[in-house]
Amino acid sequence: ASMSQDDLKQMAAYKAVELVESNMVLGLGTGSTAYHALERIGELLRCGKLTNIIGIPTSKKTEAHALSLGIPLTSLALNPIIDLSIDGADEVDPHLNLVKGRGGSLLREKMIEGASKKFVVIVDDSKLVDRIGASKLAVPIEVIPFGWEYTLNRVKSLFDDSCTAKLRTKPPKNGIVEETAEFLPFETDNSNFIVDLYFEEGIYRDLNHLSDELLRITGVVEHGMFLGLATSLVVAGKNGITVKHK
Ligand code: A5P
Repeated sequence: ASMSQDDLKQMAAYKAVELVESNMVLGLGTGSTAYHALERIGELLRCGKLTNIIGIPTSKKTEAHALSLGIPLTSLALNPIIDLSIDGADEVDPHLNLVKGRGGSLLREKMIEGASKKFVVIVDDSKLVDRIGASKLAVPIEVIPFGWEYTLNRVKSLFDDSCTAKLRTKPPKNGIVEETAEFLPFETDNSNFIVDLYFEEGIYRDLNHLSDELLRITGVVEHGMFLGLATSLVVAGKNGITVKHK
C-alpha cells in the first residue's frame, strides 16, 4: 500500500517523539502533523513509558486535544523554560527558517517555541522549499483588529506589486458562498485578525530585516516567519525519514 501524506506526517511526528524523555516540559504544537505527536505522547504516558511530562499548548485546539489525551498542562508563566517543542510548519527552507500560521496559531507558537531549548520541526517532504514565500501559500501576519485596513496597507507598502495582502476570512458555512453572506474575519485565539501575504516567486530580501520592518508597524502583533528558531528538522518522504540538526 502506498503512503498517504498523513502517513508521512505521522512518521515524522513519531520520530520526533523519540526525543521526549520523562520529566520534560514540552511545547505542544498545532496542526495536522503535531496532532500525531500529541497522540503518540498520550500513548506513551498511558503505557507508562513516559512519566512526569507537562505540556504547554500552542493553541486552544491543542489544549483541548491534550486534555482529552490526559497530558498534564502548564503555562509559560509557571514554566518559562521549555525543554523541547515539537510542531509542524507550512514551509521550511534549507536554513531551517519556517513559515507557520496557516492554522492561525503563529503567535502562541512563536512565544512557546522561542522559549524552548530545543524546537523540532516535523514535516512531510511537500513542505520543503528553496525560498520562503515561494510555495504560493500564505505568509500570515497577526494584526490588531482596530484599523486593520490601515495596517494591511502599511504591510503591503513594504513590498512591490508582486505581493498581494488579504484579510483572512472564515470559511463559508457548508462551503457555500452566498451572495448575501456576511463577511466574517477569521479570529485568532488571541482575538486578533490575520493578514495573509502571497508572493509570486517567494521573498527575495533579507528575512531578518524584513522581520524587523514588519514588527515596527504598530498594528502588527507578530508574523509567521520563524527565523533561526528551529534546532532540528524531521522530514518524512516516500524513501524514509531524514533528520537534520542546525
Ligand atoms: C498553525 O498555525 C501552523 O503554524 C501549523 O503548525 C502549520 O500550519 C502546520 O500545520 P500542518 O501540520 O497541519 O500542515
